[in-house]
Amino acid sequence: MTITDQATGQATDVGGRSRLLELNGISKWFGAVHALTDVDFEVYPGEVVALVGDNGAGKSTLVKTIAGIYRPDAGEIRFEGHPVTINGPQDVARLGISVVYQDLALCDNLDVVANLYLGREEISPGLPSTVTPLDEVAMERRAIEVLRGLSVKIPSVRTAVASLSGGQRQSVAVARSVMWNARIVLLDEPTAALGVPQTRQVLDLIHRLREQGLGVVVISHNLADVFEVADRIVVLRLGRRVATFDVHDASREDIVAAITGADFAPDEEDADELEASGELEGAPATVSTAPTADATGRGVPR
Ligand SMILES: Nc1ncnc2c1ncn2[C@@H]1O[C@H](COP(=O)(O)OP(=O)(O)OP(=O)(O)O)[C@@H](O)[C@H]1O
Ligand SMILES: [Mg+2]
Repeated sequence: MTITDQATGQATDVGGRSRLLELNGISKWFGAVHALTDVDFEVYPGEVVALVGDNGAGKSTLVKTIAGIYRPDAGEIRFEGHPVTINGPQDVARLGISVVYQDLALCDNLDVVANLYLGREEISPGLPSTVTPLDEVAMERRAIEVLRGLSVKIPSVRTAVASLSGGQRQSVAVARSVMWNARIVLLDEPTAALGVPQTRQVLDLIHRLREQGLGVVVISHNLADVFEVADRIVVLRLGRRVATFDVHDASREDIVAAITGADFAPDEEDADELEASGELEGAPATVSTAPTADATGRGVPR
């Protein structure tokens, strides 16, 4: 996989594919807080991008800007190469961009079918317009089809969402977000509240979304999940994109260093070895494994 050269801003392809979504120079202010500064971001079809960073780094602001909740103060958004103006969540849905927020926004008292169709219910054909019963059979059939296509296992599509596990609820929320022609799905902390088997279920689901050619953006604080599921890792720090890693070339330490912006000292064993070999003499007190910032301060592409 070839990663884009962020230093030149050159629009290139990953594996010959074009970018689905592209953000160029996005800035967002909240009063005196510069939540995003000149951020570039791109999503290709069939890839999982992990968006990581410390609390307050700007991850949610970036996702909400893509989702049409915030309007950027500067910068440009392109979809399939064309500049787009996003005036709200409807515009975003029309483009095929879907967001699953952490609170999921499911209706606990309704069953799985009703949740998948919330606001998009199918009406039985051939009935007078004064009577509009829902076409429950068609909705149920399609619900089963969608969940099966994503290998989501739930006891029954007629189960109330309240009685599902956290992983199953997350899966229903993801299924709902992708069943209406989604091309890109953004997941804000999809595994934060989940146990091990439930996390497994959600990570498997993310793999299947990628296999189906969707672009997936995952915000996560869990580096184990990130390494398991992502193709690329984009690091935000204090509202700036500071580094991008190909997951195969990155170590956990690289990511942590980029997130915190701190050079970290070698552990004692490494320091002893370096001292014994004389390498430490005259060397700086700390050893940085963080990617070197390029001229634009956006970090080195991998
Ligand atoms: N609606 C808002 N009004 C004012 N300031 C905001 C608003 N939303 C975010 N901010 C500020 O913008 C910065 C980025 O916040 P954001 O929520 O995007 O961070 P985050 O990376 O998602 O953090 P976390 O990991 O804690 O969710 C923070 O300094 C935050 O206080
Ligand atoms: Mg957040």
